[in-house]
Amino acid sequence: MKIEINSLKDYQHEYEKSIFSPEEFWEEKANDFVWKKKFEKVLEWNFDVPVNRWYIGGKLNITESCLDRHLEKSSDKIAFIWEPNSPSEKSIHISYRELFSKVCRFANVLKNNNVKRGDRVCIYLPMIPELVVAMLACARIGAIHSVIYAGFSSGSLANRVLDAKAKIVITSDGAYRGEKIIPLKAITDEALANCPEVARVIVVKRTGEDVAIISGRDVWWHDEETKTTDNFPAEVMDAEDVLFILYTSGSTGKPKGIVHSCASYMVYVDYTFRNVFHCEQNYVYWCTADIGWVTGHSYLVYGPLLSGITSVMFEGIPTYPNAERWWGLVDKHKVNVFYTSPTAIRTLEMLGLDPITKHDLGSLKLLGTVGEPINESAWQWYHKNIGKRKCFIVDTWWQTETGGIVLSPLLNVSEAKPGFAMHPLPGIQPVIVNEKGEELKENDVEGNLCIKFPWPGILRTVYGDHERCKKTYFSDYPDLYFTGDGCKRDNDGHYRITGRVDDVIKVSGHLMGTAEIENAINGHLIVVESAVVGFPHAIKGNAICAFVVTYEHPEHPENLKKEILEQVKNTVGPIAKPEKIYFVKGLPKTRSGKIMRRILRKILEGERQNFGDTSTLIDQEIIGDILSSISDATLVN
Ligand code: WTA
Repeated sequence: MKIEINSLKDYQHEYEKSIFSPEEFWEEKANDFVWKKKFEKVLEWNFDVPVNRWYIGGKLNITESCLDRHLEKSSDKIAFIWEPNSPSEKSIHISYRELFSKVCRFANVLKNNNVKRGDRVCIYLPMIPELVVAMLACARIGAIHSVIYAGFSSGSLANRVLDAKAKIVITSDGAYRGEKIIPLKAITDEALANCPEVARVIVVKRTGEDVAIISGRDVWWHDEETKTTDNFPAEVMDAEDVLFILYTSGSTGKPKGIVHSCASYMVYVDYTFRNVFHCEQNYVYWCTADIGWVTGHSYLVYGPLLSGITSVMFEGIPTYPNAERWWGLVDKHKVNVFYTSPTAIRTLEMLGLDPITKHDLGSLKLLGTVGEPINESAWQWYHKNIGKRKCFIVDTWWQTETGGIVLSPLLNVSEAKPGFAMHPLPGIQPVIVNEKGEELKENDVEGNLCIKFPWPGILRTVYGDHERCKKTYFSDYPDLYFTGDGCKRDNDGHYRITGRVDDVIKVSGHLMGTAEIENAINGHLIVVESAVVGFPHAIKGNAICAFVVTYEHPEHPENLKKEILEQVKNTVGPIAKPEKIYFVKGLPKTRSGKIMRRILRKILEGERQNFGDTSTLIDQEIIGDILSSISDATLVN
């Protein structure tokens, strides 16, 4: 596989070219794909509008570069080794030819079910091969996939289906998750009670649950497949047509549908996959992310397929049926490159070394992490016990909005430093700004991270709300894309991400909007209002704490806490459940009504006196009140 960056010199060469001649640079990177018509112009952009258009005039279908072009030379090569939740069920090997055939067949199923180019298709599935097939079939037919993480509740699913104005949902009867079965179809039915526009639900049979089949609306995947063939010529798409929408939490309540388009997403994901992970053609690669998040989109589905690599795809959780599961799979499939999250590393670290020493991890060559800052002790543990001190670790920093990896350590370019995302990838011009919005040009500085110039993976818009896209990412600092993250640049010019600086919290690597969780809590009848903040947690990185104001003093606080947890679970999903809930008399608010979360965070850190400038608080007494109400409160799970 082509790898452009294999030394410091290569990196400097690529980087300089990408900055001084970006159009030429990205034109070259786009050459190796299947184009129906070559583009006329590489880039048009303006961060003020904002507008970012790439490979203008180009025509293509991404599935031809992911599938068709591999058929000639490597049709029998395995695309996915699928490992089911339970080790007693057999793994499935799916070759590139088989995947191609499944995708074309399902594209026909979509067509037969009235899906047309440009339609939005919501996919609410567990980590089963049908999820990949459904996404690629959408791309093949020119429909827009919107994958919704199968851990989300019916309320979250409904919001996303409505926002995307989808007419079709693909789900399964149930999902295995360790010992549990999640009733996905029942959750879908509940969600769709509020989505009258959805005319069709295609259901995969996975767990064999009894499910309600609503006549005229619901059909089984396997029945539909038998009605058609596996011949489906790819729809010719414009470079700038939308490939997918993926929802991410924002600092206001409503999730944002991040929009990516066909051509430049493909080019960027491919370039970053090749140069960050350094897979050779015979490598086995395993990204443990769920496809419901962007990591799964870019580096489990599109990136590896564009490179024609063999990937492991795992349905289950790392600790089922025991703590050896992952390491057993690394050994069984002789995984060479392994990409996971700091939360997973910390979870497995807690379980001791026995599960690891039972397996041969000698196949591993490169390790990756993503999703949240990795603390030094977790990094060292990963390096020593999984990488046996011989594997390079790529701590990749990026976002749903960036489409692909933006900052990362690079193999053979420099030594990795624990906790550092190190270098900007070619095409990326990071800028650190202070509170006044001034660029801090020197080294050894800390501030907010922005990016100066477009890169091909940049989001196009927020679905249905371009103004929100502008306001969230392109308005805080003129002519810059604002990431929402804090960042340091050290004396050597290396980057280290310090965490979010806005009202979203990274919990176990998942982005959670404080407003989204507050809305859920406020939905409880006895709740007046609430404020949610993050606090450091040994495994999850951050956990959620809710300060809740009730109409009357709760008589049975423990029961009320349970009800609130249930409410959050049902409205947003189990991942949004607060770790701690405190009932307080009021919240620290400014005159303009904004909650000063900074004060609540300080309280959680154990601060009792020094809260900095509190002059804008309406009620100066409130801090004392909060301190006394939490002093004897208990912890909830
Ligand atoms: C955080 C995930 C530190 C960051 C790919 C970012 C990280 C948010 C790292 C995006 C990392 C991601 N080190 N923080 N290596 N990777 N983040 O959209 O706060 O789910 O803004 O995309 O995750 O989360 P998202």
